[in-house]
Amino acid sequence: MSKINNRIVSGMRPTGRLHLGHYFGVLVNWLKIQEDNECFFFVADWHALTSEYTDPRRIKGFVPELVKDWVAAGLDPEKCTIFHQSEVKEHAELHLILSMLTPVGWLERNPTYKEIRQELSQKDLATYGFLGYPVLMASDILMYKPSRVPVGQDQLPHLELAREIARRFNHLNGEHFPEPEAMLTEDAKLPGLDGRKMSKSYNNGIFLGESAEEMRPKVMSMLTDSNRMRKTDVGDPEVCNLYPYHKLLTDSEKCAEIEEGCRNASWGCVDCKKLLAENMASFLAPMHERRAHLDENPDLVWQILADGTAKARARAQQNMEEIREKIGFNF
Ligand code: TRP
Repeated sequence: MSKINNRIVSGMRPTGRLHLGHYFGVLVNWLKIQEDNECFFFVADWHALTSEYTDPRRIKGFVPELVKDWVAAGLDPEKCTIFHQSEVKEHAELHLILSMLTPVGWLERNPTYKEIRQELSQKDLATYGFLGYPVLMASDILMYKPSRVPVGQDQLPHLELAREIARRFNHLNGEHFPEPEAMLTEDAKLPGLDGRKMSKSYNNGIFLGESAEEMRPKVMSMLTDSNRMRKTDVGDPEVCNLYPYHKLLTDSEKCAEIEEGCRNASWGCVDCKKLLAENMASFLAPMHERRAHLDENPDLVWQILADGTAKARARAQQNMEEIREKIGFNF
């Protein structure tokens, strides 16, 4: 078989603790992908800076926490390269070069740009840096010439821009960057505890690092089928917030039983929540064990990041040399 490029690049912004929505929406895919691809996963702290620039010092603490969440969830530094964006300065150089050939109109038209500015209207995001977010993202991606980039739906316009920027660079300077394909990760299959989208700003999530004691009362307070007032009323799992969680955390035989019991009112919401809390706790237990080990060894976390960053940097330096040569900036 001819050797196909199976390089993958993706990143997350270090802005807070990861929750189950992140796990089932993004991380499960990363875990699968790391098994048979050459993966570069990075902490996108410069991207966090685009929206957190009024208090940049906050970001520092989130960097190792994100790495801990990843490794606790099962990302294996032996299998994938975990690196720190702002420690590979080449990303900034490529961002500068690509910014020169990116028309402002492409950036202003980006639907995700418009949406986020509205969503975060309390922050002033009318900055030069925030407008250029997709150019920075294009640099992160193109630096490693990956064939695929796992992203959620909201990031698709950014990826499309990265492809357009690659095309423009190639057109002006000769073929250099392959156009990466999106590897669309399905939208989070989990609603928040209150039924809305699971989101940091709604504080309606279960964090991966949360202890069973913290988690249990949250599960017990989850909204179920609001038409089911008494245990003797029949319920509908399809409109219950618990059911999507059971589908992910409870074995399929038991799930069928729950569904049946809910529909014929032989199984109540309180029991359903207790079972879910139990299954969730056992699901998270191995992550907590790995996390505890990392919490006790903060040097290990920084070492994982430093080792991965050194590998990524070597790649980035090599590619930057080629890029400089391509544009005649190899003095
Ligand atoms: N923009 C992504 C997000 O907000 C994070 C990110 C930055 C990224 N650079 C990237 C994702 C490159 C994939 C590839 O989630």
